[in-house]
Amino acid sequence: MSRNFQLPEVIKPIAKVCQEHHVDAYVIGGFVRDLILNRKSKDLDIVVLGDAAKIATAAAKAIGPNVPVTVFKNFGTAMIKTDEWEIEFVGARKESYNPDSRKPTVSTGTLEDDQNRRDFTINALAISINENNYGALLDPFQGLTDLEHKIIRTPLEPEITYSDDPLRMMRAIRFAAQLGFTIEKESFDAIVAQRDRIKIISMERVAEELNKMLMSAKPSIGFDLLFKSGLLKIIFPALHNLHGVDTINGKSHKDNFYHTLEVLDNICATTDNLWLRWAALLHDIAKPPTKRFDPEHGWTFHGHEDKGSRMVPGIFRDLKLPMNEKMKYVQKLVLLHLRPIVLAKSEVTDSAVRRLLFEAGDDIDDLMLLCSADVTTKNEFKQKKYKANFELVKQKLIEVEEKDSIRNWQPPITGEHIMETFNLSPGREVGIIKNAIREAILDGDIPNEFEPALQYMLLKANELGLTPAKK
Ligand code: CTP
Repeated sequence: MSRNFQLPEVIKPIAKVCQEHHVDAYVIGGFVRDLILNRKSKDLDIVVLGDAAKIATAAAKAIGPNVPVTVFKNFGTAMIKTDEWEIEFVGARKESYNPDSRKPTVSTGTLEDDQNRRDFTINALAISINENNYGALLDPFQGLTDLEHKIIRTPLEPEITYSDDPLRMMRAIRFAAQLGFTIEKESFDAIVAQRDRIKIISMERVAEELNKMLMSAKPSIGFDLLFKSGLLKIIFPALHNLHGVDTINGKSHKDNFYHTLEVLDNICATTDNLWLRWAALLHDIAKPPTKRFDPEHGWTFHGHEDKGSRMVPGIFRDLKLPMNEKMKYVQKLVLLHLRPIVLAKSEVTDSAVRRLLFEAGDDIDDLMLLCSADVTTKNEFKQKKYKANFELVKQKLIEVEEKDSIRNWQPPITGEHIMETFNLSPGREVGIIKNAIREAILDGDIPNEFEPALQYMLLKANELGLTPAKK
């Protein structure tokens, strides 16, 4: 308790208010953990040994004029928002849980009671904001030592802590990934033993943890622990199913789970885009259902990109992830993830590049990142070759885009134009002609200009027995 911690300025008026009300209060939880770890945090949690709402209301006034405070009467908590901080005030609690729910019965408690009910020793650290010991660390569970040794440990028996709130199993694994910590063996064993209790947690909360895991520098740590604990099989079976190696006639395929994790870590070194990280996680998701053994070619996963992209909506729905353009983006990247590599392996023609640009649109750069991340071969010669071919594809992409501007391209002849010319209503024939023009331009058979496209339209329509309507 010898160490004194420097707290942010905003604590001073709060401390003064507590003093005036003769109420003790402490900064607690994630903020303290992150302060010691030198990680930035804008969320301050303050545990109050008294009426949290009353203290928060007075503190808001003391911080400055027009500082908003929201009181959650039912929970006895309150929140202050300043430009810089979100400060949550909570009354010290003693909780007892019902085994079938996450909702505890709560009664007023001491600081120790409150620390006891927290998830990990590193999250149970408190710093006093009271006059007699301002800045002093209160660490009944040796959380500081655990921070130094990078250990995730529960304050109480792990069975109790995890059973009280099974989301903590996900949190333990997420912190392991985020902070690069190790989950103490007893704790991990308890997670394995209680993994089924994750089912009482809403998928939204689980997905929130998955997203945080994905945003860590090396998410493979988290997903590997999810797999080893048995949680993955429960919350995300399609990803779990990627694991394993089959061997027939002495031929084995690679373990697609660990390959996926490698790709994921690779992409995380190049992007902070959560959805691109999701695309990396899901790029091979359909390998198990498309896996075949062919005596001549060995293991194949034909069409896994197509089936994978069709699996994305179901996965997003199950995980309660947004069913919007983010999902469509992931779907598109999964669908196209093989294309640049196929291109790099064969001759890089203008038409193939144009086609890829057309399909990927503005997501072409992300697709190239995904594709580079997908190169996990340990064979140095192959790696060099792929990388060199990739550079060629990238170069070609720039050249073709400069020349033809395909990224956000619309063919020069629209459906309306076709309908008007041949007096057609919307239908199959319009689609056939429109596609034919688009394909001809992408293939380089005709230039990307109005007049040649018009001539081509007349030709195709003629083949369908259509003649222009008389004006
Ligand atoms: N907490 C807990 N059990 C949970 C969630 C939270 O005991 N299931 C406690 C921990 O003491 C935690 C604090 O509540 O530090 C604040 O929770 P939260 O803001 O969700 O997490 P942080 O630890 O601050 O970390 P992060 O913001 O990264 O989620």
